[in-house]
Amino acid sequence: MATVTRPFSILMVCLGNICRSPTAEGVLRVQLEQAGLSAQARVDSVGTGDSHVGQPPDSRAIACANKHGVDISMLRARRLTLEDFDAFDVLLCADRTILHDARIRKPRTSHAQVELLLDWAGLGKKDVPDPYYGSARDFEHAYKLIDNAAAEIVERVRQRRF
Ligand code: 4NP
Repeated sequence: MATVTRPFSILMVCLGNICRSPTAEGVLRVQLEQAGLSAQARVDSVGTGDSHVGQPPDSRAIACANKHGVDISMLRARRLTLEDFDAFDVLLCADRTILHDARIRKPRTSHAQVELLLDWAGLGKKDVPDPYYGSARDFEHAYKLIDNAAAEIVERVRQRRF
């Protein structure tokens, strides 16, 4: 009988789900495709806040991702739910405030890992700074951090280091 391995599931978490986490979802999905690992991992994104629910990513985030060949325009913001803590293996938070918030909400029965995105990627206990009130340069800076993190996550998925 063939052994079927359930894909490892990753939820990217930020505040609004319109800048950092949809970028992380799009970038990681593309990098997994390029590595031939799409079947090994499932990626989604949410926000801890609800002020942008139903909206597409911020136009500056769409433009920045586009510049790097990643289309995130079809994504729509949704808010983190309690069910997410059962549906995903790991929640990767953009910054320490989000991490704190997500850990407070985690039900005691959940086995999900709730971690800082850059830390889980092996890049140090650092935040992906919120670019929302910043400039195109801030979006580019956030993109670079996310892109580097995604490359490390692809390696973790390849080696099944969860
Ligand atoms: P995100 O960025 O958390 O990376 O999606 C933000 C989006 C919206 C707001 C803050 C950050 N806001 O204050 O509305």
